[in-house]
Amino acid sequence: MRVRISNSYFDMSSAAAKLIASQLRNKPDSVLGLATGSTPLGTYRELARMHKEEGLDFSLVRTFNLDEYYGIGPDHPQSYHYFMNENLIKHVNIDPRNVHLPDGLAKNIEESCRRYEDSIKERGGIDVQLLGIGRDGHIAFNEPGSSLGSRTRLKTLIQETVSDNARFFKTLDEVPRFAITMGVGTILEARHIILLASGGEKADAVKLAIEGPVTTEITASALQLHPKVTAFLDVAAADKLKRKDYYKYVEEMRQKFGQADV
Ligand code: PGA
Repeated sequence: MRVRISNSYFDMSSAAAKLIASQLRNKPDSVLGLATGSTPLGTYRELARMHKEEGLDFSLVRTFNLDEYYGIGPDHPQSYHYFMNENLIKHVNIDPRNVHLPDGLAKNIEESCRRYEDSIKERGGIDVQLLGIGRDGHIAFNEPGSSLGSRTRLKTLIQETVSDNARFFKTLDEVPRFAITMGVGTILEARHIILLASGGEKADAVKLAIEGPVTTEITASALQLHPKVTAFLDVAAADKLKRKDYYKYVEEMRQKFGQADV
């Protein structure tokens, strides 16, 4: 895993956006796996800026989001459909037909999850998957205990996640208890995975995910099994990493030998 530590949230977001932009320039019809939450907002802002000011083209891009709350529709202001539209889609030239999220209102959940997986495969798989990390070490809504081979499915959210999400809803009762989420196995099939983490409240989860044992208790630790993961962290999120000085040294050496963007 490559670990890139930035001095600020802004620098971390710019570095991640730069990697995605370079992917789109090399392969304009890339399939992007996208994430919601507060962490990727800076990356989306930077991508929107690059589209506006530098002509970064999204016209052939296809996107698949990691997850969606179960039981709320795409027009609900807290749905991930709504979030993606507000924070990225409407600011760039993606064809809305190429934007995919799990169906939070699916009647036949199993069938809908199978179709989601099939459409990712039909589009050739995900080139770059963006991920945040929960305080409990989850990726997407793969809560502790999720199988590391799991596929897209309905997941019951743990209490900690429900409380973390409560800030977006008027009352605790409104916070969804279920989500449809890509599985850890689904995520691991992406060709390149970008993990984003910012802030001291993520430092324990980051440490366990990157340097701890691979375990269902921290589903992000499964990323250690993937051949190409880049973790973009700010200093606060990286604070508890045992090898943080080494990771910084690696980046300095890459810079020195012109390998920083490889
Ligand atoms: P956050 O969520 O970016 O809002 O911290 C991350 C996650 O729970 O996956």
